[in-house]
Amino acid sequence: MTKDWVLILGANSDMARATARRFASAGYNIQLASRNIEELKKESEHIRVKYRVEVQEFFFDALNFDSHADFYTELKEKPSGVVVAFGILGDEKNARRDFPAAKTIIDTNYTGAVSILEIIAADFERRRWGFIVGISSVAGDRGRQSNYLYGSAKAGFSAYLGGLRHRLFAAGVSVLTVKPGFVHTKMTRDLDLPEKLTATPEEVAEKIFSGVEKKKSTVYVKPVWMLIMSIIIHLPEWIFKRTKL
Ligand SMILES: NC(=O)c1ccc[n+]([C@@H]2O[C@H](COP(=O)([O-])OP(=O)(O)OC[C@H]3O[C@@H](n4cnc5c(N)ncnc54)[C@H](OP(=O)(O)O)[C@@H]3O)[C@@H](O)[C@H]2O)c1
Repeated sequence: MTKDWVLILGANSDMARATARRFASAGYNIQLASRNIEELKKESEHIRVKYRVEVQEFFFDALNFDSHADFYTELKEKPSGVVVAFGILGDEKNARRDFPAAKTIIDTNYTGAVSILEIIAADFERRRWGFIVGISSVAGDRGRQSNYLYGSAKAGFSAYLGGLRHRLFAAGVSVLTVKPGFVHTKMTRDLDLPEKLTATPEEVAEKIFSGVEKKKSTVYVKPVWMLIMSIIIHLPEWIFKRTKL
């Protein structure tokens, strides 16, 4: 059984928990990091008992950029891989009137991820191995009137991950961009989601695990989302701007 560690950032996310469990089931030790330590401790106990691996919990705030270098330096065991799962949907309509709210959406989904990943990427590049996973979104594939603040932050994150993948390829470090489509989690619990287009956190976790193993670049969790987004991306602007998407 391997003794490698996987660091999960935003580990209280429903997708993150399922992903932590998937890696633990394969024998990885797990580092859970997020803001709510009490919740992390409950999850740690579950993983320890069920999968018999080591689990550590750490406080991590994606918005506290100045703390990120110390956060990584203080990890005694440097991880084999990292999964960036934190993110917020936010209240798009409110954020159009309230720039601090818009900035929180942008900083949580984009700036915070760049801040911590630049630190981790430099370490992985120096030692010449490891994997990085970023959970982005199909919302980043084309700006739409219904969620362009969240979508533009995810677009930035997808472009960032693409550039990081290009940079780190020569060092043997893989970078996986995950586009989940709709997923049943606490983020979407108030939304009425179409069942056929909606994945479970466990499906996301399986795609992440197999994507890392196969060193994939980008995965859509439900393949139908690749088709849907390909149509949306290719709609001419004069048609697109008349839709209500
Ligand atoms: N659900 C969907 O349909 C869907 C679709 C596409 C993409 N995504 C993306 O997938 C990722 C996971 O989403 P999810 O649905 O699993 O979300 P979730 O269950 O709502 O969890 C999101 C997590 O992000 C963490 N977080 C928020 N702000 C943070 C901060 N400043 N610092 C550290 N952690 C922070 C929260 O941790 P604490 O509890 O510790 O505060 C929360 O547990 C997100 O990036 C989301 O944008 C979701």
